[in-house]
Amino acid sequence: MKITDSLSKLKNVDWDYLGDQSDSPFANLHFYPGRFISQIPATLIGRLSKPGDTVLDPYCGSGTTLVESQRLGRHAIGIDINPTSILISRAKLIPIRHLRIRNLLRGRLNHFLDQRLTLGGKIPISPVETPSAVQLTKWYHPTTAAQLKEIWAYISSLRGISKELMEFAFSGILMQACSETRHWGYICDNTRPIEHRYIDAIDIFSNSVKKLELAYANRDADLPPSALFPLPRASVFLGDATTVMQNFTAHTVDLIITSPPYFGVIDYVKSQRLAMEWFGFNIETFRASETGARSKRHRIAAYSEYISELDGALREMARVLKPDGVLALLVGKSATREDPLPDLLEAARRAGLHLQDEFSREIAQGRRQASSLTNETLYLFSRS
Ligand SMILES: C[S@@+](CC[C@H](N)C(=O)[O-])C[C@H]1O[C@@H](n2cnc3c(N)ncnc32)[C@H](O)[C@@H]1O
Repeated sequence: MKITDSLSKLKNVDWDYLGDQSDSPFANLHFYPGRFISQIPATLIGRLSKPGDTVLDPYCGSGTTLVESQRLGRHAIGIDINPTSILISRAKLIPIRHLRIRNLLRGRLNHFLDQRLTLGGKIPISPVETPSAVQLTKWYHPTTAAQLKEIWAYISSLRGISKELMEFAFSGILMQACSETRHWGYICDNTRPIEHRYIDAIDIFSNSVKKLELAYANRDADLPPSALFPLPRASVFLGDATTVMQNFTAHTVDLIITSPPYFGVIDYVKSQRLAMEWFGFNIETFRASETGARSKRHRIAAYSEYISELDGALREMARVLKPDGVLALLVGKSATREDPLPDLLEAARRAGLHLQDEFSREIAQGRRQASSLTNETLYLFSRS
């Protein structure tokens, strides 16, 4: 099919999805800023690719594009500089039936709770099992901290898929367990909770495991009738988008759907500070390579570095796309920062990408990740 024919299938889509509250069953299990509503990648994948194709998201964040790709029978490839993004995405992409996931999750959770019951409400903690980077006394009430240590000790004894799933459930409760209630407290370096409040970590962890089980059940309920198990493979890589794509063979990707970081609006790595501490990821190491990070916005060369990094990434996207492939780029501009759109469009043109169409969309108020981000534009490029 000619690219113009494929793209014409998008003409009547209402990209705002303002009244549509449906979203991926995995969407709200874990806080991740700037994420797609799943209807956007689902619509693009459904209309611009076919089962068996390969879909890439080089800034995959919480894995929305990848989850929708796998659900619709496409091979998914994701890249992100944020190690928590990789942990979150992988745990949503296990290609086996939910009944097996359910058995694994229920088995582990019950084992953990039974052990606590038998041991009088406490699992023995060996001091090596809580990573030294975790600021236990700063972020958590002492009893919450003790419970988190128990959960962590139990998860550390697991292996394979069970461990991956339980780690996801654990990382998803850290913000709720933390005594810092002001959002910026997780991101800024010099804040601490005003007072410590007790949160029952065992309870919220059990709920988090149950929600993950339910999300997998809903994923399977939403699969197209043609879906076959195991679902298609999804590969998720940790690293800088440009550097990782340089290892990919040219002309191997059918569709790229991505939303690169906006300039100077969000700190993605820092937003996962609590998980970074538990999982032993050094914030500074990863933040240094984060494109457009808010914390870098005052540097003299911040904007030109941002454009130059996206310029490199666009060149790689153009190289890995098949000749009849499409790049769907969702970009926003903040009312309070430089407008990067003209420079990005120019970088895409230099990379050999041809702008075929664009759709502006309003972001529903409750879904805005930053109050200054009210609109974004979906650009569709072809290589030919
Ligand atoms: C707008 S978010 C993507 C959100 C994603 N669409 C979702 O649904 O969750 C941009 C992502 O780019 C990542 N990122 C920033 N700099 C990067 C780089 N140099 N290479 C790869 N990923 C990067 C951030 O960690 C963040 O996850």
